[in-house]
Amino acid sequence: MKIAVITGASSGIGKEFVKQLTENESFDEVWVIARREDRLFKLKEEMGDFIKPLSLDLQSREDIDRYKKLLEEKSPEVAVLVNASGYGKFEAFSDLSLDSQLGMLDLNAKALTAVTYITLPYLKRGSRVYQMGSLSSFQPVPYIAVYGATKAYVLSFTRAVNAELRNTGIKMMAVCPGWVRTEFFDRAVVDDDIITYYNKFFTPREVVKKALRDMKKGKDVSVVGLSIRMQVLATKLLPHKLVMKVWLKQQKKK
Ligand SMILES: NC(=O)c1ccc[n+]([C@@H]2O[C@H](COP(=O)([O-])OP(=O)(O)OC[C@H]3O[C@@H](n4cnc5c(N)ncnc54)[C@H](OP(=O)(O)O)[C@@H]3O)[C@@H](O)[C@H]2O)c1
Repeated sequence: MKIAVITGASSGIGKEFVKQLTENESFDEVWVIARREDRLFKLKEEMGDFIKPLSLDLQSREDIDRYKKLLEEKSPEVAVLVNASGYGKFEAFSDLSLDSQLGMLDLNAKALTAVTYITLPYLKRGSRVYQMGSLSSFQPVPYIAVYGATKAYVLSFTRAVNAELRNTGIKMMAVCPGWVRTEFFDRAVVDDDIITYYNKFFTPREVVKKALRDMKKGKDVSVVGLSIRMQVLATKLLPHKLVMKVWLKQQKKK
């Protein structure tokens, strides 16, 4: 049985991955993972019975074990894995609750690592793994400090494992967009204490289209948009102290 597994499929970029992947390729089943079961069943209604809703909270170890058990029972070939579950909180480090800080580490870094590790034995030659990083993967980001650090982890982890997999025919890529118009901001904006500067918004469609194209080209990092690619270049050329200074100038703390 050939399947795709997509976390964060109940909205935004994850949901868009479900749509574009199934437009381009057929799967016996597409396992869609998130907490909001109603959203996942709606996706099944819209797209067809090949969609298999798995309502899991990836911050819970028990739910990650449930996913592992399911793979053991069904023993599928996982042709595509997308790790898109994640959240951020815009707030000064000292002001955000410890639960929120550690939750970002649990979901964005630990769950992504666990799902990747557990799925790895089911990947075959030609399988592809998309990991959601961010523009913040490339630099330290004050007022999204922990979120940015989790995304730096995703980038480093993904590129390193992709290199380890070089002789297996399995490809792993970090998807690192700038701002994308999704529900992300409903959760990210804690209050109006920090006014963030949004230079440009991309759509999930643009992000995923570019990611699918970059994977075909064998890239290990996907960045959509010329302006964002220029920003990534700047983080490579300039001292990070300066890069952070520019970022801080754009943020207004009341
Ligand atoms: N939007 C941006 O500007 C932007 C930019 C760069 C990178 N990203 C990254 O892109 C990824 C997708 O974000 P998005 O913009 O599409 O945001 P989104 O619309 O808020 O989607 C986040 C997804 O994560 C799922 N999720 C949250 N907590 C979860 C948990 N505990 N267990 C399982 N799933 C959970 C959500 O589903 P439930 O709530 O139903 O669980 C939802 O499907 C994230 O990793 C984000 O950091 C976003």
